[in-house]
Amino acid sequence: MEFNTLLNTRESVRNYEPDRPVPQDVMKRIIEAGRLAPSACNYQPYKFMVVSSQEVLQKVRACYKRPWFQDAPHILVIAGDRSRAWTRSYDTYNSIETDMAIAMTHIVLAAANEGVASCWVEAYDPAVLRSALNLGSETEVFGITPLGYSRDTAPRGKVKQRKSYNDIVEFI
Ligand SMILES: Cc1cc2nc3c(=O)[nH]c(=O)nc-3n(C[C@H](O)[C@H](O)[C@H](O)COP(=O)(O)O)c2cc1C
Repeated sequence: MEFNTLLNTRESVRNYEPDRPVPQDVMKRIIEAGRLAPSACNYQPYKFMVVSSQEVLQKVRACYKRPWFQDAPHILVIAGDRSRAWTRSYDTYNSIETDMAIAMTHIVLAAANEGVASCWVEAYDPAVLRSALNLGSETEVFGITPLGYSRDTAPRGKVKQRKSYNDIVEFI
C-alpha cells in the first residue's frame, strides 16, 4: 500500500472474526516488520509472542475483559528485559518503552498493509498476562494487540480525530 494511504487508513479495530486466522506467511511478514524496527544502540531488548493456541488464548484474554477482545484469533504480545535496553548515562533514562513502541508501530502498520486488523492495547492487567504466559521476573510486557480480520465488510472510512497541524507544530 502507498505509505500515506497506509498512515491514513490504519485504524484500531474492535470487531474481529473469530474463525479466520491469519495465514502463516502473512503473520511472518508482520513480525518481520517488528524485527526490523530500530532500537537504541540496536540492543533489540524485546521478544514478540504470538498467542494462537486456544488454551493460552483463553488465559491471555482474561487480561482485558472487553467483549470484542475475546474474539480475535491471535494476540501478539511484546515483552522485554529492561536490563537489556540502552540506558543514558546522564540521567539513567532507559529506552525500553521507546524501543517497544517503535516495534509495535511497525507491527500495526505492517498488519494494516496486509489487510490484517489490530488494536494496540495497554489497559490490560499485567499480572494476569504474566501468569498466562509464565513470564520470569526479568520480563515485562509493554503492549499487546489482537491480530485477525475485521468483521466490517467495507472500510469504515472513519475520519481521524487528530489535533490540527497548527496545534501540534512549532517552527522555531
Ligand atoms: C499506547 C496505546 C495504548 C492504547 N491502549 C488501548 C486500550 O487499552 N484499549 C483500546 O481499545 N485502545 C487502545 N489504544 C488505541 C487508541 O485508542 C487509538 O489508537 C486512538 O484512539 C486513535 O485511533 P486509531 O488507532 O483508530 O487511529 C491504544 C493506543 C496506543 C497507541
